[in-house]
Amino acid sequence: SNYKIAVVPGDGIGQEIVPEGLKVIEAVAKKHNFTIETESFDWGAGYYLRNEKFLPDNGLETLKNFDAVYFGAVGLPGVDDTLPAKDYTFKVRTSFNQYVNYRPVRSYPGVPGPLRSEKEIDFVIVRENTEGEFVQVGGQYLPDSENGMGVDTSIFTRKGIERVAHYAFKLARTRRKKLTHITKSNTLINSLAYWDRVIKEVAEEYPDVEHDQMYIDNSTAMFVLKPEIFDVVLTTNLFGDILSDLGGAVMGSLGLGGSGNINPEKEFPSMFEPIHGSAPDIAGQNIANPYGQIWSAAIMLDHIGETEAANNIMQAIDKTTKQGVLTVDLGGNANTSEVADAVITNL
Ligand code: NAI
Ligand code: MG
Repeated sequence: SNYKIAVVPGDGIGQEIVPEGLKVIEAVAKKHNFTIETESFDWGAGYYLRNEKFLPDNGLETLKNFDAVYFGAVGLPGVDDTLPAKDYTFKVRTSFNQYVNYRPVRSYPGVPGPLRSEKEIDFVIVRENTEGEFVQVGGQYLPDSENGMGVDTSIFTRKGIERVAHYAFKLARTRRKKLTHITKSNTLINSLAYWDRVIKEVAEEYPDVEHDQMYIDNSTAMFVLKPEIFDVVLTTNLFGDILSDLGGAVMGSLGLGGSGNINPEKEFPSMFEPIHGSAPDIAGQNIANPYGQIWSAAIMLDHIGETEAANNIMQAIDKTTKQGVLTVDLGGNANTSEVADAVITNL
């Protein structure tokens, strides 16, 4: 088969790790007898500085012609940091009904995590990706006056909760059949109490999946103290955003986390990116950790149906970390391209 992939490296380290991830995709495609046709788009905060927008007006229409979007990160110091989400990430996620943000967390062989727990970690955060706390409904009222205020409203709809909950319960069925839904309904007594209620209704359709709920505050402690208890973690947009960076830290570095913004119905392309941002503090030095970007490639190939190639990438990643090919954030001395080259050798 042939697949059309839109490539959006974005800003900062996105420019360095996306090309390395692409090298791995091309190598694995050759081995598994499929072809990848890519087209690269220079969108993001750098593009904004030249064009006063993050992507051209026909940008979303253009992306619809592809099977998937392989993305780095957007955002630059000096560009208003309320724009990257509003004008790119949240825009693509909502426009393409990518209501699942699939963010796995696991132990990497040969990478010492920072935790007291040494048990094997293997769970998936399913973050609701299109509504909740990130709907950008609100305003700043009389901001310069002493009565000024800022308001953001969270919106949780039955449809929005049900669809992501069904995805998460079905995912749990393919794994260890345990789902923990994370909430804060003891204080967010409308939005998250409703979230709990709808999830409990959906849970009744999955009696074979063990289901419990946990408050967000306790869950951050459990991620650190007992991460092995989690299988599928279902949570809201904001909580999932925060928990996935914590998941990255639990693995050993933010640079290790891959993800997919998934439209399960495949009405639109899904978008695959590492969990972190553009890391301007380390950009331009070829030292960024590319494992999360490479893992995102595996999640993408699995989504488009090339599961064997995806598994091949994961096995090669495991072999490479086990050999000690690690970037500086993991205490190693390999640079970005050396990691990708080693993964390709290990395919
Ligand atoms: P960040 O994730 O870019 O960086 C946080 C820290 O982790 C930095 O010290 C960075 O050097 C380190 N780090 C991140 N990825 C790494 C990697 N692959 N290898 C080694 N170290 C890595 O988050 P920050 O600093 O809060 O945001 C920077 C910019 O990225 C902002 O403009 C923000 O809006 C944007 N951003 C964009 C996202 C996206 O496009 N999906 C997601 C998160 C942030
Ligand atoms: Mg984030």
